[in-house]
Amino acid sequence: MRLSVLSSRSTKKEKTEYMARFNKNDFRIRFDFNNMMRDYIGAEQGIKETEIADVSKTVKDAFDSVKEQGGAGWQGWLDLPFNQKEIVDDIITTAKSVRKNFKTFVVLGIGGSALGPIAVFQALRHLHYNELPYKMRKGPKFYVEDNIDPERMAALLDIIDVKTTMFNVITKSGATSETMSQYLVITDILKKALGADYASHVIATTDKEKGNLIKLAKKEGFKTFYIPSGVGGRFSEMSPVGLLPAAVLGIDVKKMLLGAADMIKMGFKTANPYKNMPLMAATLQYIAIGKGKNISVMMPYADSLKYIADWYCQLWGESLGKAVDKSGKEVYAGQTPVKALGVTDQHSQIQLYTEGPFDKVITLIAVEAFRTEVMIPEGLEDFPDVNFLCGNTMGTLLNTERKATEYALAKKHRLNRTITLPAVNEYTIGQLLMLFMMETAFVGAMLNIDTFNQPGVEEGKNATYAMFGRKGYEAKKAELDSAKAKAEKYII
Ligand code: PA5
Repeated sequence: MRLSVLSSRSTKKEKTEYMARFNKNDFRIRFDFNNMMRDYIGAEQGIKETEIADVSKTVKDAFDSVKEQGGAGWQGWLDLPFNQKEIVDDIITTAKSVRKNFKTFVVLGIGGSALGPIAVFQALRHLHYNELPYKMRKGPKFYVEDNIDPERMAALLDIIDVKTTMFNVITKSGATSETMSQYLVITDILKKALGADYASHVIATTDKEKGNLIKLAKKEGFKTFYIPSGVGGRFSEMSPVGLLPAAVLGIDVKKMLLGAADMIKMGFKTANPYKNMPLMAATLQYIAIGKGKNISVMMPYADSLKYIADWYCQLWGESLGKAVDKSGKEVYAGQTPVKALGVTDQHSQIQLYTEGPFDKVITLIAVEAFRTEVMIPEGLEDFPDVNFLCGNTMGTLLNTERKATEYALAKKHRLNRTITLPAVNEYTIGQLLMLFMMETAFVGAMLNIDTFNQPGVEEGKNATYAMFGRKGYEAKKAELDSAKAKAEKYII
């Protein structure tokens, strides 16, 4: 029995009972790529089945290389759903204690050390979680500070009491200036407020050996979780980076890992893309990139999935945006990720997507059954132009608008695809995040680039160190000092 047998008019009690009888077969996510194909959006823009066949060697090679290296090198993230039993137990125990003893939980981190926790928080907790009374939240308030804007740090300090706050400092490298400056600010305040006891208010999540945070954690005695060496920032949501904040929020991290594990099993079962969701998703994007579709729009039709689009943007942009391929040839690869939200951005971006340049692939994310519904009441019979809405649920309206947008895009020959979540829960979110991670790895392999490095990010980091006079960056400082000075005539 599929979840869709629940109608949008099902009561909250019926939905809660249905969700509680968790059967993972009811919650398998689906990938509909009809509107990527020539038969549905026309010969000029649509992809032909023969084009998929034409790239079958590239697809098979990519499948083999990602699968063979799964768990090795920088692909340690593919092992995470299977090899963390003891770590997950420790995370759950630690989270229970944090939930009991702290009123606020603050993540200090940036990029891959923040976007996953933000996305999962938004997806799996109440949309106004922090404003709920404690008896409904049943856990600490939750904040992720992923910037060094002084006004934001000051604003956080205005609303929290550090004496009842747990800080989770997350940095894989243990060296990122933004996170380490936040660390310095917060630990200084904690020390002044709590003295020697301050260390019990800090949990470090970092590399086991490399970087400064691990040295500080050992010296100060912080509780520490490790990010495995083969797991880069943007692929780290299934490691303690994402699992600890999620567990502190009362999220069932085992079910999230189960969803990720099932997606990996599907993604490695067969090199036939018609039976492999991540591989088909990647194959279509690879073909589309080859045809000049330089933009990937991620458009969930659910507020709960809004920050999945932010997380995706980093994953897709940082992984695929590369100047050279593995042989050193200049390729300037990549597809610019853009985030949008349905239906909100129908009133801002859809005009461009339906009538602007043919340079995009648009991914819609649908939710079949919302966790709660709001009925649009009857009572405007005298106003037929409004009355047609009455008696429907808001979820029905939202999903109808999504289908209408899909139709409008297809009618205008725009490449689009839809990922459907039967419902938003731990299991579907685990599948969705792993789908995107595997799709990214497959496309990177097809493009023959290094998916897992980020030299463009490193350059900016190193320039900052040099400007701050950090030891060891003297040559970079000299390089910056020799750069051409800006001309006043070009500043108005
Ligand atoms: O994906 C990545 O590797 C980066 O975006 C990092 O996550 C980001 O730069 C933060 O790095 P770190 O976790 O080392 O502080």
